Amino acid sequence: MSSDPIRHIERIEVRVDFLEVGTTLAGNVYDEQNHLLFRSHIPFTQDMIEFLKKKGIQLIYYTPRDDAPVKTQPEGIEQFRNRARDIMDMLLEAVARNDRPDFNEARQFVRDLQDFIEADDSTLLPLMKIREYDDYTYTHSVNVGILSMMLAGKYGIDYEMVHDVGLGALLHDTGKLTISRDLLNKQGKLSGDEIYIFRQHPVKGYEYMEQFKDVSEDVLAIIHQHHEWYNGKGYPRGLNDENMHAGAKFAAICDVYDALTTERSYKRAYTTSEALALIMRGAGTHFSPVLVSRFVRDMTPLLQKHPVFPPGTLVLLNTGEVAMVREVHSIGDDKPIVAIVTDNQRKRLARTFNIDLTMDATRNLEKVIRFASIPPE
Ligand SMILES: [Fe+2]
Ligand SMILES: [Fe+2]
Repeated sequence: MSSDPIRHIERIEVRVDFLEVGTTLAGNVYDEQNHLLFRSHIPFTQDMIEFLKKKGIQLIYYTPRDDAPVKTQPEGIEQFRNRARDIMDMLLEAVARNDRPDFNEARQFVRDLQDFIEADDSTLLPLMKIREYDDYTYTHSVNVGILSMMLAGKYGIDYEMVHDVGLGALLHDTGKLTISRDLLNKQGKLSGDEIYIFRQHPVKGYEYMEQFKDVSEDVLAIIHQHHEWYNGKGYPRGLNDENMHAGAKFAAICDVYDALTTERSYKRAYTTSEALALIMRGAGTHFSPVLVSRFVRDMTPLLQKHPVFPPGTLVLLNTGEVAMVREVHSIGDDKPIVAIVTDNQRKRLARTFNIDLTMDATRNLEKVIRFASIPPE
């Protein structure tokens, strides 16, 4: 994930035909040759629209201005990153030496992380930048811990349980320490034996942590079950949605999200939108459809500025009309081509009509009514 704050904002084309009296554009308005026509945020009057039409101007352009104040990094993030490193070092070293990890220290870390996140949702992203610091195993563990606690918190689960979800997620892959580095980083096809060894890591982690009394059943279940699937086709035991631990379901979806958005030697890092789209494809097979829609709904605003709108998604427009997403221009696009299906009184139209929201300055997506269910692959 890049920490580069520079974002590329493209100029947006608006058809003069679509302008209405009262339309305001969130940036200075230019003609095709980049001559300034009007200042930003000035409502169009009939005279202004007539002026454009008289000049034969059919397209105008504006570049949205981002006037939002830039949030500075909260104090303490740097300390958290360093502490996350130390804690994961301690945990992983203890496991590698077959020693007892200092669970008090790990618990206190998760507790502080939890309070930190609860105080301010927006701390998530800077914390996730822990990723940039070090190699995969512990950055991944910390990220899955943070994401799982965020998700569990959104479910209204009680504080102690969220804490266990965080600790379980932090420890979920400790069994990987029993697998050789060569196998963990192997590119290309794994042999049957290698797949077997790899798939034993939840069991190994569980067996290791089980010997310590201060690791709760909930934490153990998360370690043991984080690769189980909704449809029972996961591993190691083939549990399904009914017999999986709720915390393991949170950890499972966050595990996949973090793995997808992380660069590895054999793959690039997927963008947030791509990862969310892939997770949505797993609804009904890998993950519970309800959990996927909650993840997308609750986490997307935290993970990226623009939500994803897969084709088939029903959305409400600012005009009160209901529309169905037909086509997106790019992944993460919040101005897709939509078919308007009702009028602003929610009355079904006799014939739907398509609108490209990039071309229509008067219509915007307000909120998602229902996400498209994506057929499993
Ligand atoms: Fe794992
Ligand atoms: Fe993992």
